[in-house]
Formats: sequence, C-alpha cells, structure tokens
Amino acid sequence: MLTDYSLKMPKNIRAGEHAIEQLSEILNEEIKKIVIFTDKGLMNAGLVDLPIEIIEQAGIAYTILSDIPAEPNYHEAQATIDAFKKEEADLVIAIGGGSVMDVAKLASILATDEYTVKDLLDNPLLAKKQVPSLMIPSTAGTGAEATPNAIVGVPEKDLKIGIVNPEMIADFVLIDGRMIRNIPKPIAAATGVDALCHAIECFTSAKANPISDTFALEALDLIMNNIVEACTQPEALEAKRNMLLGSFYAGVAITASGTTAVHALSYPLGGKYHIAHGVSNAILLTPVMKFNEPTIKDLLAVAYDRVIKDGNKTLSENEKSSYMIKQLDEIVKVLEIPTSLKTFNVPKEDLEGLVAAGMEVTRLLVNNKREVTPEDARNIYLQIL
Ligand SMILES: NC(=O)c1ccc[n+]([C@@H]2O[C@H](COP(=O)([O-])OP(=O)(O)OC[C@H]3O[C@@H](n4cnc5c(N)ncnc54)[C@H](O)[C@@H]3O)[C@@H](O)[C@H]2O)c1
Ligand SMILES: [Zn+2]
Repeated sequence: MLTDYSLKMPKNIRAGEHAIEQLSEILNEEIKKIVIFTDKGLMNAGLVDLPIEIIEQAGIAYTILSDIPAEPNYHEAQATIDAFKKEEADLVIAIGGGSVMDVAKLASILATDEYTVKDLLDNPLLAKKQVPSLMIPSTAGTGAEATPNAIVGVPEKDLKIGIVNPEMIADFVLIDGRMIRNIPKPIAAATGVDALCHAIECFTSAKANPISDTFALEALDLIMNNIVEACTQPEALEAKRNMLLGSFYAGVAITASGTTAVHALSYPLGGKYHIAHGVSNAILLTPVMKFNEPTIKDLLAVAYDRVIKDGNKTLSENEKSSYMIKQLDEIVKVLEIPTSLKTFNVPKEDLEGLVAAGMEVTRLLVNNKREVTPEDARNIYLQIL
C-alpha cells in the first residue's frame, strides 16, 4: 500500500476546438528562435502548416527538424538533437506522435554538449531543463505530452528503454482534435489501444494512488467509450477530441503511477522486431489481463461500474471483471489490430530470448500486482507466438 504519492505535470495546458490558435498567446518577444520537431508523415498531412503560420505572424525565426523516424533508436534521436544544438533555440515545439515528442523532450534537456542520450540511458537524471518545450500531440496516443518519459530503441540490446527524468515534462501542451481528424485508421487504432493500455495498467498498477486513479479512470471512461467511433468514423470530431483528452489523462496517470506487464513484455517486441508500440501492446493486452485477473478483480469491477454505461451494478465482482476483459479484447478485434506475433513472422525459437529480454524490464514489472516469473512470461509469450 502506497502511503505517499505525488504528481508533476505540464504547467500550461490548452485544449479545445481551437487549441492550436492559442499558440499565439504563448509566443512573446523573448522568444527569438524556435525549433520545430516533427516527421515526414506530419509534414505530408499538412499538420505543421497552421503552427508555422502562427509563428510567422509573430515574426519569430524557426527551423524545422523533420528527419525523425518512427520509434527512433538512441543514435537516431542523438542525430536530431545534434542538429538542434546548432540552432540555439529558445523554444522547442513538437508536432507529432510519441516518437517526435520523445526526441523533442530529450532535446529540451540536452541542448549543450554536456551529456548525450546514451549518458541518460545509464543515468537518466543527469540533465536539467535547458530550453522550454511545447507539445502538440498528433496521436491519441502515447500521452508523451504529459509524461517525464522518452522511449528510445537500444539496438545493441534488441530492446527499447524508457528514460525517465521529471525535467523532461513539457512546459506547454496544446490538445486539438483537428490533429487526428484525418489520421489513417491503422495508426489511430494502434495508438488508441496504447492509450487504453496506459489507462487500465495505471489503474491496476501496484503504484496506483488516489491522484493517478482519478486520471486513469477518467481516461479509461473517455477511451473505452470513444475509441471505436473515433477510429472508424472520420468526421467523429467529438469522439476524437475525447480520445486526445483521454490519452493526455492516461499520460498523467503514467506520471503518477506507472504501466505494468503489458508494457514491460511489449518492449522486446518493439526493440527486436520493430512492431509498432501500440500494436505490440494490443497483442499482449488480453493475455496479460487474464494473467492479472486473480489479483485485480476488485479494480476491474470498479472500472466496470464507472465505464460501462448500461452496465448492471448488481453483477458479481467475477462477472464484472470478466466482462471488462472481454470488452478490452473486443476493442482490439473490432479495430482489426493483429492479435498474434504470427502476423510478424516471429519464429517460435525466439521464445527464450523474448522471456530474457522481457524479464529485464524490471522498471515496469515491479508495478505489476501479480508477480511475473520467467515461467509466467514464457506462458504469456507462448499464447501470442
Ligand atoms: N514518452 C512516453 O511517455 C511514451 C509513452 C508511450 C509510448 N511512447 C513511445 O512513442 C512512440 C510511438 O509514438 P506514437 O504511437 O504516437 O506513433 P509515432 O509518433 O511513432 O507515429 C507513427 C506514424 O504515424 C504518423 N502519424 C502520426 N500522427 C499522424 C497524424 N495525425 N496523421 C497522419 N499520420 C500521423 C507518423 O508520421 C508516423 O509515421 C514509441 O517510440 C513509443 O515507445 C512514449
Ligand atoms: Zn505506451
């Protein structure tokens, strides 16, 4: 039982139908140079145009760094940060999904030559905030706009590693539903289930506490009741706004609590096979929830009462908890996200390597209420191979 808990979150959050326009209220004459972090997908989708227009109207110089690959490894992140350092920016703006926001957050604490991303892999707390940062998330999503985390691939270890440093928490966040209006369905679905995993994992985490529960439950409610509509109906703007808000809240819940075995066992799938973060979480969601069920039934029943709008409050704890797990499974299937590693041709012989790599993610495994032994991890991976 946790007796002390706390929360750090971005200082200035603006959300709503015209959140991006509010950038003009944040820019001021002390900001002489802005570096915009984004990627080719965002540029091609025209999602960088409006922020640029506002920066130009404010008469502020800017540079765009758009060579960030999806799910960058630490060498790739460092290459962008090296380009950033030359610009001597007073403000970092990230326009993109978790990949872009994570690199921008690292840049905000690595603006001088003192430390590198690799240094932070060994000692994440070394660096301090040097340049303020502003996040405009374009997926709903990682919640990276709320968290102190940046996740990078480590090719030498076939793993992804989370660098956690409170100095990386963004200073400004603009949450605008228009950013996900035309997002392709497979990206919306996978990133949406990532947010869903954040909410349910944080709510059932050993680190959960009254602050994280508040955000995790609201996130779960918003996400479970909007994800299918938001991902399948292009004009469902309200559902999309709710998804962006839900994924932000889930990010806040991560900061106050922490994800569990879904994310822990998912890291090697991203690190070794480059399966998209949301997809690898989606594949693991049902098997891990079933494994955890004996220790989290009471919490799943609480979630049922909050989230299932036409639910029957008189059902037993067992019935509510199995209904919740069925609903989570249903969402992954309805959104047509792969549910097996067969889709990615992962050979059965890799099982032991996966178990060893998954068990290394102790940072998150310790949050899982039911202890995960190597034998348990093996059984879970076997179900999805
Ligand atoms: N920092 C954190 O707290 C945190 C939490 C979870 C995951 N992550 C990390 O975030 C990364 C994944 O981020 P993600 O899932 O947001 O995806 P992403 O940023 O990797 O983007 C995936 C693809 O979608 C495209 N895209 C993004 N938004 C779009 C839009 N609105 N319209 C059209 N195309 C769009 C991008 O161009 C890219 O090609 C992973 O590296 C993951 O480990 C970070
Ligand atoms: Zn995640």
